[in-house]
Amino acid sequence: MAFPQSFLDELTARSDIVDVVGSYVQLTRRGSNLFGLCPFHSEKTGSFSVSPDKQIYYCFGCKRGGGVINFIMEEENLPFPEAVRFLAKRAGLEVPEEEEDREAVRRRQRLLDLNRDAARFYYRLLQQPEGQAVQAYLDRRKIRKATAVNFGMGASPDAWDTLLNAMTAKGYTKSELLAAGLIVDNRRGGFYDKFRNRLMLPVIDTRGDVVAFGSRVLDQSEPKYMNSSETPVYSKRRVLYGLNLAKKSKRPNIILCEGNLDIVTLHQAGFDNAVASMGTALTPEQVRLLSRFTKELVLCYDNDNAGKVATERALQLLNGAELSVKVLQLPRRQTEDGQLVKQDADDFIKNQGPAAFERLLGGSENSVEFRMAQIAGKYDLSSDEQRVAYSEEVCQLLATLPGSAQRDIYTAKAAGLASVPVESLRSDVARLLKRKTRAAAKQQLRRDLNPVAEMQPKNRQMRIENTRSAVSELGVIRLLTLDDSLFTDSFPLEEDDFSFPLYRKVFSLLWKEHCEGRRPKIASIASQLDQEEMNYLAFALQSDNKFEMNRDAMLADYIRNIQTERRSSNKTDPLLAVVEKYKNKGEKRNV
Ligand code: UTP
Ligand code: MN
Repeated sequence: MAFPQSFLDELTARSDIVDVVGSYVQLTRRGSNLFGLCPFHSEKTGSFSVSPDKQIYYCFGCKRGGGVINFIMEEENLPFPEAVRFLAKRAGLEVPEEEEDREAVRRRQRLLDLNRDAARFYYRLLQQPEGQAVQAYLDRRKIRKATAVNFGMGASPDAWDTLLNAMTAKGYTKSELLAAGLIVDNRRGGFYDKFRNRLMLPVIDTRGDVVAFGSRVLDQSEPKYMNSSETPVYSKRRVLYGLNLAKKSKRPNIILCEGNLDIVTLHQAGFDNAVASMGTALTPEQVRLLSRFTKELVLCYDNDNAGKVATERALQLLNGAELSVKVLQLPRRQTEDGQLVKQDADDFIKNQGPAAFERLLGGSENSVEFRMAQIAGKYDLSSDEQRVAYSEEVCQLLATLPGSAQRDIYTAKAAGLASVPVESLRSDVARLLKRKTRAAAKQQLRRDLNPVAEMQPKNRQMRIENTRSAVSELGVIRLLTLDDSLFTDSFPLEEDDFSFPLYRKVFSLLWKEHCEGRRPKIASIASQLDQEEMNYLAFALQSDNKFEMNRDAMLADYIRNIQTERRSSNKTDPLLAVVEKYKNKGEKRNV
């Protein structure tokens, strides 16, 4: 899936980052950079910066960054090749697809066509006598005809090769059916349908393509749900069941449930803003996808331990996201023999009706209220001792709230709940807050005194061992991407002079660009760095805003530092010296 590098260069040269980002974000100039409100997380002051010189963006808030292609990948939720095609269209460039790429595009399209044809096949079957068992199941679950049609539901036949035969008759090959995850290899040279005698739930993305299938058995057997595996057109991290419908809803938010049939029931009851994560934990990709269609997300997970853990995890993920979050808690239901059992959205609607759900939705708590209730639930508030413990724990939470109004309101609520005097909670919160501010100030001071500590990547796999060298290595990279005339054929540094692996990799990519007669640019090597590497590189470059009076002299300085550091590290690190010695020996032996 490689585009010719010369094409990527032309594409990035013709897609000025200020123009491209500017069509999504309002930017204002501040110094040599432009700033705006980050499109990837919610904020009131702009920490999203764009550098016209370096042709990169970086958000100091959510710590994401990269070149123009990375921006489109993030903003439009597209994989790299699709982002390239998107930008090419915008720039009016023809994409020079290599034969194999054209082939890949064609294959993808074939898989989507196949999925659509399979969905049609299952859909038709549901209307026929063979679909009788599934139709009976839908009746039992009170899913109406119109709802089933709206979701494109179908029935897979109770046989081993009906779909296989129908699709091969339409001209699809076995390998295409296999790639789409619709048939399974029996390892004896034969194949059989993956989905048999099940209710079929096509998974449709926001572009309207059938990308996968979910399915449910009709009885108690296992597995209850069976979903498509990952395919070239389906990544479960990037899709939410029902979002194709929910994105058109007029309701002010989106409700996120765990189960496919929960949202089917919700839509049927008029809550056409429900989506399901299909039983997996919410991912950052899904959060970004959701934030394209709504400003508020309502979490509606099961009211059991697993559901609470999932809610807490989702809240943490959503902390700092562009979305505001609420938690809808489904009450437990009392059975005839007096037991309290959990019910999911589907059960609740069927037991209590849509109006009751509407009330729950209206009363759903924000994340602070939810967390406060979780804490309260841990203590017996009729005991003095436990009320003290509750107060201590809830104050820890209250002290994290930004803004004194918010703190005051929730402190009062917490005090009321445990009937403790509000003044005592208030002074506890103030004390904690002061301690926090002091700690933050201390940390800031440490940072100010030691700016290189700031440089250390958060990811432990990308550690900077030699900060002095790394600072100069970054300087070299920055200068080379600003001014390619500095790259001479007898450039005094080589890859191995770079101590920080990421910079070594970036340098070698830039060097390769230069050797092949192109201008080394960060944006055009983007395809060869992963998102985490790109985020860090953009951070480092964007933080490094030295004013260059004399680029040649600066470069010479950096080079000298790197060489000095390399010599001294070779000398002082006995282990490295041994490694070097063996390396040399090995080389000699090879000659
Ligand atoms: P649940 O087990 O809570 O089922 O799974 P449910 O949604 O209430 O299902 P019904 O009402 O019995 O039909 C929640 C979701 O987890 C995924 C499915 O997407 C399901 O909707 N799941 C569950 C699987 O993918 N595989 C399974 O075996 C079970
Ligand atoms: Mn259920």
